[in-house]
Amino acid sequence: MCGIVGYIGEKRCTPILLHGLKNLEYRGYDSAGIAILENHSIQIQKEKGRVANLESLVNPLCLQGTVGIAHTRWATHGKPSHVNSHPHLDSDSCFAVVHNGIIENYKVLREFLEEEGYTFSSKTDTEVIPNLIHYYYTLQKETSISAFLQAVSSTCQRLEGSYAILAIGKDFPGIEIAVKKDSPLVIGKGNKEFYIASDMPAILEYTRDFYFLEENEMALIEKERIAFFDANLKKHEKLLTSIPFDALSSTKRGYEDFMLKEIYEQPEAIRRTIANRIQFGKPIDFSDISFSKKELTHLHQIYIVACGTAMHAGFVGKQIIEKLCHIPTHVEIASEFRYGSPFLSSHTLCIFVSQSGETADTIAGLRLAKEKGAKTLAISNVIGSSITREADQSIYTYAGPEIAVASTKAYTCQIALLCLFALYLSELRKTEKVEQIEDLKRELFELPEKLEEILQKHELLQNIANQVYQETDMFFLGRGIDYYVALEGSLKLKEISYLHSEAYPAGELKHGPIALIEEGTIVIGILTQDALLSKTISNLQEVITRGAKVIAITMAELPQDLFEFVFKIPTTNSYFSPLLSIVPLQLLSYYVAKEKNLDVDKPRNLAKSVTVE
Ligand code: AGP
Repeated sequence: MCGIVGYIGEKRCTPILLHGLKNLEYRGYDSAGIAILENHSIQIQKEKGRVANLESLVNPLCLQGTVGIAHTRWATHGKPSHVNSHPHLDSDSCFAVVHNGIIENYKVLREFLEEEGYTFSSKTDTEVIPNLIHYYYTLQKETSISAFLQAVSSTCQRLEGSYAILAIGKDFPGIEIAVKKDSPLVIGKGNKEFYIASDMPAILEYTRDFYFLEENEMALIEKERIAFFDANLKKHEKLLTSIPFDALSSTKRGYEDFMLKEIYEQPEAIRRTIANRIQFGKPIDFSDISFSKKELTHLHQIYIVACGTAMHAGFVGKQIIEKLCHIPTHVEIASEFRYGSPFLSSHTLCIFVSQSGETADTIAGLRLAKEKGAKTLAISNVIGSSITREADQSIYTYAGPEIAVASTKAYTCQIALLCLFALYLSELRKTEKVEQIEDLKRELFELPEKLEEILQKHELLQNIANQVYQETDMFFLGRGIDYYVALEGSLKLKEISYLHSEAYPAGELKHGPIALIEEGTIVIGILTQDALLSKTISNLQEVITRGAKVIAITMAELPQDLFEFVFKIPTTNSYFSPLLSIVPLQLLSYYVAKEKNLDVDKPRNLAKSVTVE
């Protein structure tokens, strides 16, 4: 989704801004632009399409400025076009603004500004922002930095919705103003310079020292100093946070695509996520969570709230928590939860799962849970992300940066962490025998090696992809925990191969969807649960009878003649099977997309982190 980069310092900022935008390309966007302050004017270059298009327009020799802002836009209001791209100027070209988020009351504001004589060239919600800044600036009848600051503050008071804004003014050659509400903005500190970005990866190679803007907080940035203000322009101090982050892992390291690299990184990522918490013969270590033993043993229910793949991980977590800890657990789509009326109390634990930690709906759900008095726990892959800063407690997946839009290693790490958390709660609540928990720990510990075995069989999946990539529809079926893996497998296929697919609980098909099965329809059956094996085989037989070709993903010995193909995964405890059974499905989606010559890492219409609701 939209990305912001800014620079103020002593270096020419154009290459820094363009490079920062490239670092954010993985987020998904459809146009890009920059604004540089030069000789008391604002130079803007922007264009529809990739950052490379913009780069070809920008003559670096002409742009010497050391203060600038830049943006990649993911269209919401107004189609992708030159004129709708950011940065946007006010009608007098005095102020330029880049903005992430959505201004919900932009129509009213636009009408107000039009009555005041302002003109608009784009269809965006954003264009009201520089015009409002200009309006409030001129009202003050003075040309000072504090007038600029006051104008931005007054503007924000008129805005409804979400925003991260970076603004510059033609008469303020050494100033940038940053402000945010419900959309992240970080400020990196260098030597006599500051880097500003919506996401740390944009600027990580320049600094590890960051200020994280809080809600309604504003920063006045000059090359050698920075000042922070609240919504009433009251000045305050702010702590600088140092972030340990491996910038190198944001490169492809010889893999053709980030997604493939991230699929292959899963064994190591899971090891990193679980290793420090497991010690055989000792309780699982969650000493980084400071909920008391009493609080956790007296929980009445758990909610897991998330979107997309993170929600699919939550479904797997629910099954394991309910079985091992005997706590009723509900999984909610964050965009529904935030507007629902959940029954929450201090005996409810709400777990918010988010790779990026910046998903707007998940953050809104977290705020609702806090308002209602529930305990909140964030599971995220990004240290310092919004969700981890707002939740009561946070735990991390150590998947490393996930760049491909389609989530793979974050998903398996989320499941691994939820499994560990379930084991931990079970130990505290003494719901399972000590030996059983020890066995499960051992099993979990051995999983990365088993995952490596699956990766070695990638050619089998490449061959299947070669046979099925021209299909238009596919079905994914499973029962119990396998159904949740089916949901994730189907999402992966849709996301990157644009191939329509549906996931169903295997027993549900005959209540309607089986009407869609015809001669040659491809069905993927997931069969890892011993107790449900014969039931799922019967359901698969029903579709085979109606002409479907079934590919089975299983730990069991299945009759080969019944299926088109049987892909065997190593055996593990049925609780943990999703960590293995998803891998062939990830690879299958990847190879189907490759067969179709698609951009695997940046699928159309999608954004890596969805920062608008
Ligand atoms: C996963 O492949 C998707 N791109 C998407 O569903 C993603 O999982 C979802 O948007 C949630 O993101 P988050 O984990 O960063 O909150």
